[in-house]
Amino acid sequence: MSAASNLLKHHLQQRQIQGATHIALRPGTLAKVQGLSRKPATREPEPLKPIAVESAPAARRILDNPPPETKKAGLLEVAGDTIEEKLAALRAMAEAWEPARALESLRETMVFAVGDSHASLMFIGEAPGAEEEKLREPFVGPAGQKLTGIIKAMGLDRLQVYISNICKFRPAMENQGSGNRKPTAEEMRACLPFVLTEIDLIKPQVIVALGATAAEGLGIPGSVGGLRGRFHSTSGISTMVTYHPSYILREEKINGGMDAKRAVWEDMLKVMEKLGMPVSDKQRGFFKTK
Ligand code: URA
Repeated sequence: MSAASNLLKHHLQQRQIQGATHIALRPGTLAKVQGLSRKPATREPEPLKPIAVESAPAARRILDNPPPETKKAGLLEVAGDTIEEKLAALRAMAEAWEPARALESLRETMVFAVGDSHASLMFIGEAPGAEEEKLREPFVGPAGQKLTGIIKAMGLDRLQVYISNICKFRPAMENQGSGNRKPTAEEMRACLPFVLTEIDLIKPQVIVALGATAAEGLGIPGSVGGLRGRFHSTSGISTMVTYHPSYILREEKINGGMDAKRAVWEDMLKVMEKLGMPVSDKQRGFFKTK
């Protein structure tokens, strides 16, 4: 899908959200728009892969006896006629999600997701950090700026993709300050029904798991080095695992980060090809060794 088509699609979705039911289109544009609507997915969700669960007996009880709305293949039942309405209902459910709250190891503020609810490309990170918690939007801090740069290099912008996290709350630490820690397997498991339901509603063509923690949360265990460069499957959807933008930031400080950036970019070129996006010679040449 071209950038122009994507922008047109986004504009039409915004108008629909704003309440427009009819929009006059020039001849020819209609055909383009119709070409944009994706085929209904025929994928069957794969059964949830179990993640090892640690301690916390109260949460353990809730996770072993999930509320009735989670029982269908790990997905949440949400009310609404449109994807936007269902995502809004899902977001409201996440605010009050008892299995996550009962752990008492996650902070109060829920950070949901951002982007196009009809996106073909979905990025999944691990958990919000300090900046994300403040703005209640995923990937807005330094790692977020790096991710936004990667998305731009692909010829897209943040509004054309969907960005979410495995864990919807910032993991708590003693003397937290601006510090962050990775979510535990138990914390990810408590939030997993949300990301699985987001995937089920949005039906992206490709998922990018940012870092080994996000991949593990999606049931793809291993190191990024061992997993990256090829597609895996999340509920039947092609999933590329690549380095987390924070890893690039760390590597930049140590050695300029060229190897990490090159690896991520090679993965993104594969994602673009899978999505049928045009790849220019300039894009193909980024980070190429002579
Ligand atoms: N890192 C993540 O994994 N997610 C965010 O939202 C921000 C930083």
